[in-house]
Amino acid sequence: SKHEYIAVSERDGLGFIELNRPKVLNAINRPMVSEIVEAFEEFDRNDNVKVIILSGKGRAFAAGADIDEMSEDGAIDLELLNQFTEWDRLAWIKKPIIGAVQGFALGGGFELALCCDMLFAAEDASFGFPEVNLGVMPGAGGTQRLTKLIGKSRAMEWLLSGDRFTAAQALEWGVINRAIAPELLMEETEKFAKKLASKPSLSIRLIKESVHKAVDYSLYEGMQYERKNFYLLFASEDQKEGMKAFVEKRKPHFKGK
Ligand code: HXC
Repeated sequence: SKHEYIAVSERDGLGFIELNRPKVLNAINRPMVSEIVEAFEEFDRNDNVKVIILSGKGRAFAAGADIDEMSEDGAIDLELLNQFTEWDRLAWIKKPIIGAVQGFALGGGFELALCCDMLFAAEDASFGFPEVNLGVMPGAGGTQRLTKLIGKSRAMEWLLSGDRFTAAQALEWGVINRAIAPELLMEETEKFAKKLASKPSLSIRLIKESVHKAVDYSLYEGMQYERKNFYLLFASEDQKEGMKAFVEKRKPHFKGK
């Protein structure tokens, strides 16, 4: 495999990216970030892949950025290295991304999870931003994404305390979609991913894009964006087929265009 820090595979319309440094709880070093981003972009270009599942090997999803690698860094090195720009590319992935989280999702690992469109987690997963205990803070979107997701007061509690939270808490606050028995995590995630993979992929693509705009745009701008995407789908063969099949009371055959 051309990957050193991740394992990549594909089957049944699903693309799998698995963080693969289990000895250090999938601590995210810089080459691993590059591998992750490139694997996502390859799946985005691969017509056989409809949905991408991100998970971690071993007892963590990811316990954060690699502290050994960061410990001697200087501010100017980081500015010139500008590595967080690579993370930004994850926001441009068009296909749905489901995170399957078992064990620790901490710091940069939690930030990576928050780049997913949906999160399914094992009941024994734990989430948190321990950066404050290291004298730093999240740097790959944590303060922004978590706050937009759960609101200011709750985000403050997680980010300022550095505490670890359970999957039950994450579920209650809407950080994750499901809390699942650990032994069923991948099965349930795949089942849901396959459901999405069977749908007309242009609809899936433009719905995802429109939901992302709801996070970034004002309501008015977001609605204009949604409307154009709605109109655009009427240029697709799948829209013609989907509606015709309904009228003819038969199953549609979607082509993804
Ligand atoms: C480097 C890490 C690591 C990390 C764990 N390890 N997390 N190495 N960077 N983030 C290594 C440990 O050093 C250890 O290596 C091995 O993984 C197993 O971890 P243990 O600590 O022995 O396991 P355990 O006692 O079960 O404790 C699990 C843990 C703890 C609570 C998750 O490992 C932990 O607190 N990790 C750090 C969590 C953290 O602070 N994350 C935020 C990082 S800052 P050895 O060689 O001893 O076996 C960050 C900034 C993001 O993410 C900025 C944007 C990208």
